[in-house]
Amino acid sequence: MDLGIAGRKAIVCGASAGLGRGTARALALDGVKVLIAARSGDRLKAAAEAISAEAGIEVAYLAADVTTEAGRAALLEVCPDPDILVNNAGGPPTGDFRDWDRETWIKALESNMLSAIFFIQAVLDGMIARKFGRIVNITSYMVKAPAAILGLSNGARAGLTGFVGGLSRDVAAHGVTINNVLPGQFDTDRLRSNHTRQAELSGRDFDAVRAAAIKSIPAGRLGDPDEFGAACAFLCSAQAGFITGQNILLDGGQVPGLL
Ligand SMILES: NC(=O)c1ccc[n+]([C@@H]2O[C@H](COP(=O)([O-])OP(=O)(O)OC[C@H]3O[C@@H](n4cnc5c(N)ncnc54)[C@H](OP(=O)(O)O)[C@@H]3O)[C@@H](O)[C@H]2O)c1
Repeated sequence: MDLGIAGRKAIVCGASAGLGRGTARALALDGVKVLIAARSGDRLKAAAEAISAEAGIEVAYLAADVTTEAGRAALLEVCPDPDILVNNAGGPPTGDFRDWDRETWIKALESNMLSAIFFIQAVLDGMIARKFGRIVNITSYMVKAPAAILGLSNGARAGLTGFVGGLSRDVAAHGVTINNVLPGQFDTDRLRSNHTRQAELSGRDFDAVRAAAIKSIPAGRLGDPDEFGAACAFLCSAQAGFITGQNILLDGGQVPGLL
């Protein structure tokens, strides 16, 4: 399917690995001029080169921490007028709410709420003026099915979700859509490190933790970052112009809610 966005410009955050990389790949395969960001330069360069070789299109990259104003500004200097913005950063640590002080909370809010809000603030008026924009925020299935140990993530991402709910309706008439995509359990570094930690805490081995995770997913497997990317790319497509303000679960059926 031709997504109708070849030649459009995209900034994809957190894209040297995992879900962000899958999204950057899918956009590049559709002919989008992608700028990818992550903090560590080596892995980022390798990802840009691999996607570029596969898609046959140049993929730009910039080492930047998207949770900082300087990082976002540096990305906007390279790509000042993106048509597509994918907000994504690492998730906060798991833990017990008794241990989370103010500084820990502020860090989580910066990573998973405020960084996306400030990036949206920086690009939205340009998208409105050009009468086309696609913003996708990668959040988590925990927004719909929160677990206490991920309280930092749940709190920050629910804040972003609330913000997007109002704003998306406000700008819909200008050809700009804003949606959140809620990953369930995808086979990425982040999930592997979560499983390693759970194994350490529970005294089980990694394979047992992973098998239990897979058992909790009706699809009977973990998600593939490339299929996550394909769904995100569709939300960025010309055809998805009537989808906005949504929270779309990609979870193999794990969250049992009806709506
Ligand atoms: N995988 C899942 O099953 C799952 C489920 C629910 C929610 N999520 C959420 O989805 C997001 C992506 O997860 P993932 O599994 O794809 O993680 P991942 O495999 O660890 O990849 C994260 C990517 O983001 C980059 N990154 C992290 N912090 C960044 C920052 N501050 N600035 C710029 N780039 C940054 C990383 O590179 P550098 O480290 O070099 O910066 C890497 O490229 C996370 O917020 C995660 O909590 C994932």
